[in-house]
Amino acid sequence: MTDKVRYELTDGVAVITIDNPPVNALGHAVRVGLSDAIARFEADDDAKAALILGAGKLFLGGADISEFGKPPKDPWLPEIIGRMESSPKPVVCAIQGAALGGGLEVALGCHYRLAIKGAKLGLPEVNLGIIPGAGGTQRMPRVTGVKAALEVIPAGGTVSAERAVEIGLADRLAEGDPREAGLAYAKELIETDAAPRPVGKLACPQHDAQAFEEARALWSKKNRGEVSRLASIDAVEAATRLEIEPGLAEERRIFNEMMDTPQRAGLIHAFFIERKTAKLSEIEGVAPREVRKIGVIGGGTMGAGIATAALTRGLDVTLVERDDASAEKAAATIAKNLDGAVKRGKLSEAQRDAILNDAFRTATDYYALSGTDLAIEAVFEDMEVKKQVFAELDRVMKPGAVLATNTSYLDVNDIARSTSRPSDVIGLHFFSPAHVMKLLEVVVADDTANDVTATAFALAKTMGKTAVRAGVCDGFIGNRILSAYRASADRMVLAGASPYQVDRAVKAFGWPMGPYEMGDLAGLDIGYATRQRKAATRDPRDIVPTWADELYHLGRLGQKTGRGYYIYAEGQRGGQEDPEVEALVAKAREEQGITPRDFSDEEIQRRYMAAMVNEAARVVEEGIAQRPLDVDVTFLYGYGFPRWRGGPMHWADTVGLTELLADIERYAEEDAFFWQPAPLLWRLASDNKKFASLNG
Ligand code: 3HC
Ligand code: NAI
Repeated sequence: MTDKVRYELTDGVAVITIDNPPVNALGHAVRVGLSDAIARFEADDDAKAALILGAGKLFLGGADISEFGKPPKDPWLPEIIGRMESSPKPVVCAIQGAALGGGLEVALGCHYRLAIKGAKLGLPEVNLGIIPGAGGTQRMPRVTGVKAALEVIPAGGTVSAERAVEIGLADRLAEGDPREAGLAYAKELIETDAAPRPVGKLACPQHDAQAFEEARALWSKKNRGEVSRLASIDAVEAATRLEIEPGLAEERRIFNEMMDTPQRAGLIHAFFIERKTAKLSEIEGVAPREVRKIGVIGGGTMGAGIATAALTRGLDVTLVERDDASAEKAAATIAKNLDGAVKRGKLSEAQRDAILNDAFRTATDYYALSGTDLAIEAVFEDMEVKKQVFAELDRVMKPGAVLATNTSYLDVNDIARSTSRPSDVIGLHFFSPAHVMKLLEVVVADDTANDVTATAFALAKTMGKTAVRAGVCDGFIGNRILSAYRASADRMVLAGASPYQVDRAVKAFGWPMGPYEMGDLAGLDIGYATRQRKAATRDPRDIVPTWADELYHLGRLGQKTGRGYYIYAEGQRGGQEDPEVEALVAKAREEQGITPRDFSDEEIQRRYMAAMVNEAARVVEEGIAQRPLDVDVTFLYGYGFPRWRGGPMHWADTVGLTELLADIERYAEEDAFFWQPAPLLWRLASDNKKFASLNG
């Protein structure tokens, strides 16, 4: 036995405890220990039943993900589980906290399962690009039926302890200490002479033949392009036609196939990097300032969303608007957002009422913010307006309070230095809708104190956001890179691609939206305003999408006016393509003497991604993003980059930096101004290195 698995005999019960912090992952040493413990239990005549426990706050977090992609080492988890299941003496488990993936599969190998209130039971494997590989797809439907299995497995979802009992995934619900409750259960089984109940011996219950087709249709649409969700449905289907052994073999075959996909590598990359963004030397060991009460200035699109996100996470919010009418409007939006949370089951009605009565208020006077710990400004994107607001904040906020701006592009250093306390100022760049989108760019200015940065990361955690550190520049990490790949799309359109083809090709790559659909959603006035702002400093070699300016002047601002690149029929979300737009583009080409050429979808994808990665390399080199992984997380959480591709930098590593650089150099032959290879990309490619080598 290894020191990660303990065996002790208590009142005729062999208590087998897996103790492998932080999540009791079933790595090699645990598997060796567990296998030995099961053998010892079988041989131990004094042990009449076994109780499997996980030490600490959760039962078992699943297979050790860091072992994936490496050569497998015996003993195999499926074998250990098979052995547990065929034990002639009852095996019980008590699940607290979580039983996930291989952890739930261990539980399903037990004859009796006790779930402690508050625990979550689930099979999240598909989120990592694989399928359950230790019997989950074969044993779960045998105890719950196909319907419940199809609700959980392709979704990579979890169920509560209560629901687990309801669907037959667990046998009993208990409260309190898992060891005590588990021992009581085991002793009861010994006293009543209960027989072992191997799940694998059960037949799969009757099911609706349509269920599989419906599940396939759902997941083909919901997570377009992902292979493991559909593969997990095939595995569940195998359970309905095969005995346990051939079923397990089929599951293993599919599991191994998934293990070899690039999607698995991308999703596991995503899993590990999202846990690394908060690991920054500048905040290591730095205590954050306490934040309970926050102020939000401006209750428009962003302010109302930010206030909602904060309120639902238990913070106290005071929102300051320009006048009573705007304040009322903001309060109404927030109330509507909270109603939405009630409808989705995220809040109870009583919680919503308590929030609105006790934790939220609006004001038009900045003095209302004097007791708050942190203020987030979300007023118009105009430096003069921002500076006026910060002057007010400087006047009323208590010493030590954090002053944050949600600006998208403006210079946070300039804002900070307009106050008497620049070290307290930071950018908190939320994404729209702020109560839904998970990304928060924490924009650290030159003078920002480390404990203010630490406070921002702590606040993100409280608000359920994934925070990424960004430096100050036009657009920070995300919007700066966005403007580069947007520009590549405009160049392709000018050269001959239609905006609709660009959107289609980009979506076929896995993005949720193409650049022109996104423009219509955000409002074409935003792009126009940006072009105006940059006009004075624009390099004459740059191109301007004159057709986009024309759309603006025609009042075609996108979805909000019913027309933009697309035409939107009343009540419909998707738009119709419009020949008038193509005509505007054709006119622009003619004016510039460009003969349009054809683009393949593949070339569009390649150029779009190359522009993105090239600018991202600059962003990393300049320290705007500290590591390539910060760029990846920004795009996964703020821009809907397909998670199974791991992020743009991971994607670049998989296609090869040398190949990508060669493409860029080729594109540069026709447009040397736009396609200047980033020095970092060039260096890494010459050294035959990957972006991942800079992730630390
Ligand atoms: N393997 C290896 N490391 C893991 C891990 C796992 N299964 N689960 C978590 N970790 C690591 C994290 O990377 C993190 O490491 P770090 O401190 O160095 O950054 C540390 O454990 C703590 O993780 P969290 O910060 O996520 O801790 P939380 O307490 O917030 O969450 C959790 C705990 C809910 C268990 C969450 O970690 C989680 O969801 N883990 C993944 C669970 C999972 O997907 N399991 C299925 C694995 S695949 C499988 O089992 C295949 C089988 O079918 C054969
Ligand atoms: P908005 O126009 O919807 O809302 C701005 C609000 O600020 C209005 O309600 C207005 O009444 C209020 N306001 C203006 N001056 C004020 C003052 N002096 N005191 C108090 N309230 C005042 O704008 P939106 O879209 O919410 O943007 C706000 C900020 O967030 C901008 O800096 C923008 O760049 C940034 N941002 C916007 C995103 C978006 O997708 N809309 C995304 C991320 C950041």
